[in-house]
Amino acid sequence: MINFVTKLQTLFTLFIILLLCISIYITINSQTNSTNKKEYDNTFENTYVLKKELEDAAQRIIELEQRLQSLETRIPKKYAEVTFLNYLKKRRILITGGAGFVGSHLVDTLMLQGHDLIVVDNFFTGRKQNVEQWIGHENFELIHHDIVNPLFIEVDQIYHLASPASPPHYMQNPVKTIKTNTLGTINMLGLARRVNATILIASTSEVYGDPDKHPQSESYWGHVNPIGPRACYDEGKRVSETLTYAYAKQENMNVRVARIFNTYGPRMHMNDGRVVSNFILQALQDHEITVYGSGNQTRSFQYVSDLVDGLIALMESNYTLPVNIGNPVEHTINEFATIIKELVGGNSAIKHVAEVEDDPQRRKPDIARAKKYLKWEPKVSLNVGLQKTVNYFKKELKLFRFVHSNSVTII
Ligand SMILES: NC(=O)c1ccc[n+]([C@@H]2O[C@H](COP(=O)([O-])OP(=O)(O)OC[C@H]3O[C@@H](n4cnc5c(N)ncnc54)[C@H](O)[C@@H]3O)[C@@H](O)[C@H]2O)c1
Repeated sequence: MINFVTKLQTLFTLFIILLLCISIYITINSQTNSTNKKEYDNTFENTYVLKKELEDAAQRIIELEQRLQSLETRIPKKYAEVTFLNYLKKRRILITGGAGFVGSHLVDTLMLQGHDLIVVDNFFTGRKQNVEQWIGHENFELIHHDIVNPLFIEVDQIYHLASPASPPHYMQNPVKTIKTNTLGTINMLGLARRVNATILIASTSEVYGDPDKHPQSESYWGHVNPIGPRACYDEGKRVSETLTYAYAKQENMNVRVARIFNTYGPRMHMNDGRVVSNFILQALQDHEITVYGSGNQTRSFQYVSDLVDGLIALMESNYTLPVNIGNPVEHTINEFATIIKELVGGNSAIKHVAEVEDDPQRRKPDIARAKKYLKWEPKVSLNVGLQKTVNYFKKELKLFRFVHSNSVTII
């Protein structure tokens, strides 16, 4: 019996030892498992963070590459080849407002022809970027100057383009617009007289106002509201023409007057508020295309290279009376909205809003005079010109969004 009790005690002791061993094993094992799990969690988290950082870096690299590409397109590797002209043919040409939309295209053409160019601009609406392709070239000079102040230089020809041209710009400071077109024009006419240069004045179809004659020929005197919101520009240009012919008669000078109709093309202002740029930008951003009034008012638009050819032909002619330079193909604003919407694609709806005060209802140049005396007429079709302009605005929009962060929308 004693033997049996001893055996039982031994067995019980052994059982307790076994239980202890099992519990020690379980404790050790569970600790190891939890350490492994923590390590696994940490590794997973680290991998996730690294992956996210890599994705962010890749996105940043793409953005920097795009920025680099757009900067590279702006920094010319070398100048375009210009024609060599001997001193008898080479002219010193001043372009006021040469850093603006039209002026910069005129600069390009005259530079390529081999002339010496001096651009004068106060950069109110113009920008250095428009002429940077020539900065540093031996035939090119850029002067920061406001033409309301006199200028003393030696030149053979003056293309006088300096003046804000779009309603939001010229209405921003109406008094300055009038000064630029009166005092500024007097300064340029005075300069032309002193150095015996031929001067071309960039006038406008706005001198016809809201015309009651259609199409508008140069003999039409116009229908302008002298105290309306557009008067600072319309009347400013009319006085500019009056001054030009007063100087020509009194001082026996060589003058040219171009009455420019609506023009469009690359380097137009993003926010100049004119039909073409507004509609293209709205369509490119899938915004509503806003048409002021019924949209039945008409406009005729010329592509900028046609205008440049017309201005040079006029300067080189010996014709002194005003000449209309414009494209007579007329479209309603509604038609423009549809054409641009189709060209750009996208989902923009066309929306009609209240009409603008003194908005001319019809505009179409009679270009018989330009055809007869300058042998000039526009060549670029609306579709070709608009496609080039759309491509330009696409690039500008991309650059603008990049510089000003993605949250910015235009118009
Ligand atoms: N673009 C058109 O559809 C159109 C139509 C009719 C007439 N025009 C005339 O053609 C000319 C050029 O027009 P744009 O469309 O190139 O306009 P724009 O605004 O792009 O260019 C005008 C240039 O003149 C400069 N300027 C303005 N005031 C100045 C001052 N006081 N001193 C020096 N520089 C000054 C501006 O900085 C700008 O570079 C203007 O005289 C305009 O009235 C243009």
